[in-house]
Amino acid sequence: MLHFKTIIEPFRIKSVEAVKFTHREDRVAALAEAGYNVFQLRAEDVLIDLLTDSGTGAMSASQWGALLQGDESYAGSRSFFRFRDVVQELTGFRHVIPTHQGRAAERILFQTVLKPGDVVPNNNHFDTTRANVEVEDAEARDLVIPEGRVPSAIHPFKGNVDLAALERTLATDGKRVPLVMVTVTNNTGGGQPVSLENLRGVRALCDRYRKPFFLDACRFAENAYFVKKREAGQSGRTPREIAREMFSLADGCTMSAKKDGLANIGGFLALNDDDWAERCRNLLILTEGFPTYGGLAGYDLEAVARGLEEVLEEPYLRYRIRSTEYLHERLVAAGVPCLQPAGGHAVYIDARELLPHVPPLQYPGIALVNALYVEAGIRGVEIGTVMFGRQPDGSEEPGAMDLVRLAIPRRVYTQSHVDYVAEAVIGVAGMKDRLCGYRIVRAPAVLRHFTATFEPIPA
Ligand code: F0G
Repeated sequence: MLHFKTIIEPFRIKSVEAVKFTHREDRVAALAEAGYNVFQLRAEDVLIDLLTDSGTGAMSASQWGALLQGDESYAGSRSFFRFRDVVQELTGFRHVIPTHQGRAAERILFQTVLKPGDVVPNNNHFDTTRANVEVEDAEARDLVIPEGRVPSAIHPFKGNVDLAALERTLATDGKRVPLVMVTVTNNTGGGQPVSLENLRGVRALCDRYRKPFFLDACRFAENAYFVKKREAGQSGRTPREIAREMFSLADGCTMSAKKDGLANIGGFLALNDDDWAERCRNLLILTEGFPTYGGLAGYDLEAVARGLEEVLEEPYLRYRIRSTEYLHERLVAAGVPCLQPAGGHAVYIDARELLPHVPPLQYPGIALVNALYVEAGIRGVEIGTVMFGRQPDGSEEPGAMDLVRLAIPRRVYTQSHVDYVAEAVIGVAGMKDRLCGYRIVRAPAVLRHFTATFEPIPA
């Protein structure tokens, strides 16, 4: 009997989309036109788009088929009940409130429950989560374990919450904490998982201080697979069993179905508290839509319902986690400084370490992102000083890290695409001394990374 080491893509391809090859000089011009901000490029000028794993996945034939089953009734549509049943079966939460994507769920939850001066603890808030807390004049407090702040530190559950720090926050500022959040996997900290043991610890503290506990569950399936592979006593369980235990420890969740919902749009807020649910639904009607569609078409609800089931299939998760790890392995073997260990949905390059001659306030992450685009047509994203360096008072400080994230869309690229990416990153790292820093020309006050324009600072 043969024993195979190769982990193949667990699908075959039924429909393809051509990618456009461009010349280096076209990319130099396109980037200048975009104000040196890759968010402002036209996607068709990108060869391999690793900007995000959000909404960029390929749906299965079964999901496309489900679109035709969509019931577009305004109220009480069959597709809603199918969606609700799948979410309830997975999460166990009593109330399921569909939203058009994750940040709408965050906004509705935070606008409903936060007051000015409140504090929301989390391992790390993602950018939109932080912004939705801060817009309510509340504080988004990051309490990841110390290893989670050091790119080179190796830890199996680097997304874990520092339970002692959470306890201090609850003991000191408890009156101002309306809920505790934990992000699985921890995107801002490098796509790193949170262990079941740590989630149980958060639950115990929330019980002691009588606080509701919410998961930011965008990548719950990837987290469940890491638990299966890395946590003692979990290897014999299915990802679904582990995911259900994760949700059973919480009182609610916000979810972007654009990640582990395997859909191109969609999300939800799910929770147990009747009073909060009623107030959230009222806000939903005002801004998203009636509670049985919440800003989505019936066919979107169908696609998400199937996606939430497919995402927990083990061959899929094995391939998903392994293909990200494969890219990470190749970069590390070539000496490219990467956040350790590989994340679930992305590889994070440590741009501050790679480009020590570019100070944080000249944005080493932007320097690397822009070089990857010019040299290879690859689009990554800076997760660093541009994304997180602007302080609420308008001043600027270096972000905790300067990373470049290469996020892998689900079921979209093959191994040869990934091999090309590895070759490109290694090639660009080889020309690091020639990369220069940038200064901001124009930037809005919040979420500036999306629309800021830059200019290169000649060396
Ligand atoms: N929470 C986390 C951990 C996320 O990564 C995201 C989105 C959201 C919430 C918001 O969800 O986009 O559906 O509104 N992350 C994407 C990314 C955009 O590129 O990492 P959304």
